[in-house]
Amino acid sequence: MRILILGGTTEASALAARLAGRSDFSPLLSMAGRTSDPRPLPIPTRIGGFGGVAGLARFLQAEEIEAVIDATHPFAAVMSRNAAEACGQDQVPLLALRRPAWAPQEGDRWIEVVSMGEAVQALGEAPRRVFLTVGRLELAPFSAAPQHTYLVRTIEPIGDALSVPNVVAIQDRAPFDEDAERMLMERERVDVVVTKNSGGAATYPKIAAARALGLPVIVVARPEKPRGVEEVASAEAALDWLERLHGRTP
Ligand SMILES: NC(=O)c1ccc[n+]([C@@H]2O[C@H](COP(=O)([O-])OP(=O)(O)OC[C@H]3O[C@@H](n4cnc5c(N)ncnc54)[C@H](OP(=O)(O)O)[C@@H]3O)[C@@H](O)[C@H]2O)c1
Repeated sequence: MRILILGGTTEASALAARLAGRSDFSPLLSMAGRTSDPRPLPIPTRIGGFGGVAGLARFLQAEEIEAVIDATHPFAAVMSRNAAEACGQDQVPLLALRRPAWAPQEGDRWIEVVSMGEAVQALGEAPRRVFLTVGRLELAPFSAAPQHTYLVRTIEPIGDALSVPNVVAIQDRAPFDEDAERMLMERERVDVVVTKNSGGAATYPKIAAARALGLPVIVVARPEKPRGVEEVASAEAALDWLERLHGRTP
């Protein structure tokens, strides 16, 4: 069974690992190409956009794709919408593999906002030391608040994405460790953290570390994903879905 996995996430890689070496599935994992040196995967991959809904619909037909797993990041709203439309047009079964959002726990000091613009506002006027972990492509709005000192962590170098005078940029990628996160925040004298509500274990340690240190966390809510698409939260559940679907395929 020919499967297209829309990836770029830990969950997509976990599903790839489960499908590797199986003779009953022929998976292809697609990435947008945002990370220049993605971690190697044990199944065939392709990189780059499809060219919108029409391009994806053509790709599904040309590659004779029989099922699509949308395992993109919870904030990759465009790709998920395109997948829902293209799969609808071509009548290809679609499953969303999406990690649950984080929920605040006792001791958390969350400030929940709905956009990066609101996150900038929530920092306030007075200068603060901000740990900014929202991804390289979301940094620009923070240029409007140059009074703060930013500790920015991204996978790729930030280049000129954030034009403010006081920036410490570090490059690193998940998974992270709670003790190391706490030490980093202490060393850099961070007094507020900004994050997307990405969910998942790999980047949760910053939330736990902020709780331990009593720091506020500005949490940006997830964008809307297309409705009416069946959704699971784990690679195992996605594999079950594929196996059930495969069982039905003549
Ligand atoms: N946004 C985040 O916070 C975040 C965090 C970690 C990882 N990621 C991963 O990075 C990728 C891009 O995220 P984004 O927020 O830029 O997405 P997006 O805004 O939803 O997508 C923008 C465009 O990028 C292309 N694209 C996105 N995901 C793709 C994929 N898996 N394979 C091929 N093309 C893809 C599509 O181009 P065409 O229209 O030309 O097909 C899409 O229209 C996703 O794979 C996502 O899982 C995103």
